[in-house]
Amino acid sequence: MDRIVVLDFGSQYSHLICRRVREANVYCELLPHNTPAKLLMEMKPKGIIMSGGPASIYVEGSPRPDYGIFDLGIPILGICYGHQLIVDRFGGKIKKSSVREYGSSKLVIDDRDDLFSNIDGNIKCWMSHSDTAELIPKDFEVLAHTDSSSSAAIVNRNKKLFGIQFHPEVLHTEMGTEILKNFSFRISGAAPTWNIQDYLERTISEIRKQVGSNRVLCAVSGGIDSTTVAVLLHKAVGSNLRCVFVNHGLLRVGEEELVFQTFEKVLNIPLIVVNASERFITRLRGITDPEEKRMIIGDEFARVFSDVASEHGPFQWLAQGTLYPDIIESGVSHGPASVIKSHHNVKGLPKWLSLKVIEPLSTLYKDEVKRLAACLGVPAQLLKRHPFPGPGLAVRIIGEANHEKIRIARESSKIVEDELMAEGWYDKVWQAYVAVGDDKAVGVIGDGRLYGHIAIIRVVDSADAMTADWVRLPHDIIGRISNRISNEVEGVTWVTYAVSSKPPATIEPQ
Ligand code: XMP
Repeated sequence: MDRIVVLDFGSQYSHLICRRVREANVYCELLPHNTPAKLLMEMKPKGIIMSGGPASIYVEGSPRPDYGIFDLGIPILGICYGHQLIVDRFGGKIKKSSVREYGSSKLVIDDRDDLFSNIDGNIKCWMSHSDTAELIPKDFEVLAHTDSSSSAAIVNRNKKLFGIQFHPEVLHTEMGTEILKNFSFRISGAAPTWNIQDYLERTISEIRKQVGSNRVLCAVSGGIDSTTVAVLLHKAVGSNLRCVFVNHGLLRVGEEELVFQTFEKVLNIPLIVVNASERFITRLRGITDPEEKRMIIGDEFARVFSDVASEHGPFQWLAQGTLYPDIIESGVSHGPASVIKSHHNVKGLPKWLSLKVIEPLSTLYKDEVKRLAACLGVPAQLLKRHPFPGPGLAVRIIGEANHEKIRIARESSKIVEDELMAEGWYDKVWQAYVAVGDDKAVGVIGDGRLYGHIAIIRVVDSADAMTADWVRLPHDIIGRISNRISNEVEGVTWVTYAVSSKPPATIEPQ
């Protein structure tokens, strides 16, 4: 299968480049900026893209590729910092520019032969740089310019090297996808052979090869990722797969029943359900630190799996729904993209579990998993559910997760979900729930004074959970939710609405 490789110099947009190329049906991978040329030669990518990055080329220690990549004869496109690397390497000059060019600029196209083929007129392009090419290397030609960058796009056609100062991967660049398509198809000659149906068939045969007649344990949460992994593995290894759902007592209302029905009745995959609520709640007693809670939950999960393995095993493999961004963000791929957050599913399992890990989604982005899930017949009801964190309500309870606070968070969240569904808001928002902490406030319930809990409604919108904004719900909906919580959930006296965006806040309070 033809592929394009993106070398990651640390730009926040590196993933986007990869996704845009995949949207054009060409398989694309993000690799560390210093991936050896020898390795790239063996991988035989059709084209290489060097991403942008925060460094300045003239600062000592700024990241460089293995310069051998320029001798491979593979077309290379440098974007922003990648463009400056090409200029610098081939004898041009990069200097700090007097004005930082940030935002939208008008790109005047001077040459439409290849990179800008099929692009009529001039386009708006997105710039984000403070260094600029003062002098382009000899043997290079200018393909396009802006008011502030006389060489916003350059080429050396003999060497198949292209450099662009702007970011074609962001939506603010008009025809940006067309530019990436021109590089992938016209210049690199890649065939658009990447699609989910092929991925599905290839992955099933790879799993069969990898697993053979061994047995696989798959932990499912009812979320899209683990459900998709389970269906994929079930197709590949049939009855050698056992799926287990652990009820840790920190679930949403009706979660266990929904997951059980979906697996047993819709997907026809047998499911072992373990009710381990008391085990988890007992271990969480007195624990208030958010990270400690996560660690305890992760550890207890592993212990439950171990028990399941002794009872239903032996198993040789454990299947996980790790996605591509999880692998990259956790630094497991050793890429320079900064470690944004550690995900417990890739941090490694305790050695004593002694199972090999299989991660059939580890090259996919979330939207690709959704398409795969739909291909596999995962019901829409499940696909549409809001994401729910692995440690469950524990991350929505500030302080100790005890029975009372868990009940309040669970019952109140159900009210939020029901009201949003009734008003057509559920599908429009990313997540909606109620958090609860230890702060208390006085209320008068009936004739009595009650020193009760404060329910914190949190409704956020997001594209990928990396950033999020609080949702401006109509006041009458908030009012109705508030009334229902106060009337229906015992122990709540006050209801508030969280109006913090991410950043600086996070989506979950713990
Ligand atoms: P934060 O709170 O970091 O959340 O803004 C971003 C997204 O990740 C989910 N989340 C988790 N998911 N294990 C998970 O599986 C966790 O420990 C965890 N913490 C947060 C959160 O629900 C949101 O969608």
